Amino acid sequence: MQTNAEELNGSQRPLPRGPVLDWSSFGRIDVPDVHSVENLKNKMLTTSGRAAIYQALLQLDLPVYSSVLVPTYHCPTMVAPVLLANLNVAYFGLLSTGLPNLDAIEESTAQKCKVMLVPHYFGLAKSLKEVRQWCDKRGIALIEDCAHCYFGQAGERAVGEWGDFATASLSKFFPLPEAGLLASAKRLIKPVASKKPSLKAQIKGCVDVIELASRYHRFFGIHIFLALFFKLKNIRSQKYEAAEIINKPEAVEMMRDCDMTRIDQSPLWAAIALKNILPRGRIILQRQINFASYASYFSNVPGAKPLFPISADSVASTAPYVFPLWVDDPDSIYQALRALKLPVFRWDRIWPNTPNFPEDTGALWSHHVLQLLCHQDLNSTDIDRTAQAVLDLLKIQQIKIQTVHT
Ligand SMILES: Cc1ncc(COP(=O)(O)O)c(C=O)c1O
Repeated sequence: MQTNAEELNGSQRPLPRGPVLDWSSFGRIDVPDVHSVENLKNKMLTTSGRAAIYQALLQLDLPVYSSVLVPTYHCPTMVAPVLLANLNVAYFGLLSTGLPNLDAIEESTAQKCKVMLVPHYFGLAKSLKEVRQWCDKRGIALIEDCAHCYFGQAGERAVGEWGDFATASLSKFFPLPEAGLLASAKRLIKPVASKKPSLKAQIKGCVDVIELASRYHRFFGIHIFLALFFKLKNIRSQKYEAAEIINKPEAVEMMRDCDMTRIDQSPLWAAIALKNILPRGRIILQRQINFASYASYFSNVPGAKPLFPISADSVASTAPYVFPLWVDDPDSIYQALRALKLPVFRWDRIWPNTPNFPEDTGALWSHHVLQLLCHQDLNSTDIDRTAQAVLDLLKIQQIKIQTVHT
């Protein structure tokens, strides 16, 4: 189906795909206490979520080429650290809840594996009690991937407390140039000799945060000055970037796309400082509000449905990362949403040779699930605009289907 993206969205501005610093980032809002990975006893900041996974694997001190179980439904940045740590990747499929399909993992595979990486998808954490028991029975270490779930309760325990190690991605929750977290409730984290970023990189980190804010017209009152400053700053680099894009080969390695260059460095000052000073209340509350707003749009729509049943307390004890939407016929809709530059992802780029297990929910999700971002720097107008675009595209699709059938 061809849909004219411009017709739907006119010349509206692109919406940010992650948190953006603004005056409001510093505002304090009281919310009921919500757990966070950052409250775990032992922790170490890294440059990203992928760096945290890499460091967790190093902490486990595994024999070279040991196998690590990762889910078939993944972002490539979950697989790249395993390979970079000289380990082998084995896969597990998912149940419709998003939890590992433990019964379908062959004992011969389990015996070869030393680690299992289990994410809390979308920021909607679930109990990992059975996963923990399954791992304990086999002497497998559990890395609880909290990249989508910086805050929350995972069943009987707080997020991050199930894993031997928990990993998190701070730049998904805070307006930071980069940063991740390696944490553990029980295990000590051995000191890591990380490389220090150069002074130039430190300054660039600070400038990048402000430049991103300026691109999205933040910092009311001084925005005009910021915009002018960055326009002048970028006059030379724009020419350079354009040349770069033209010269870039089409087929780039997935590993290169994952950009693992800074995994053994310490995070930038800008990231550390902002992480320490920014209040958490607004991050949690605005995500809950945005999630609820999406839920109200998609409760009863032909051609799409919320991936999980939504109840009043679905996100009461968490700060969701995205609203996961199942779309029956997603390809053209996703393409149009991308063309509209709306804050929507699909994890359709999975690692080469990921197996196709029978009845695996992971494979279906890679195709059908759209992840609608609900971060705190999208306001109600932004959420309405994104939801409305999805609804319009679904409506056009339904009309086409009806026309074909009549
Ligand atoms: C579940 C999951 N784990 C890990 C990562 C890696 O996080 P980062 O982008 O901070 O490296 C991602 C990134 O999208 C992710 O979605």
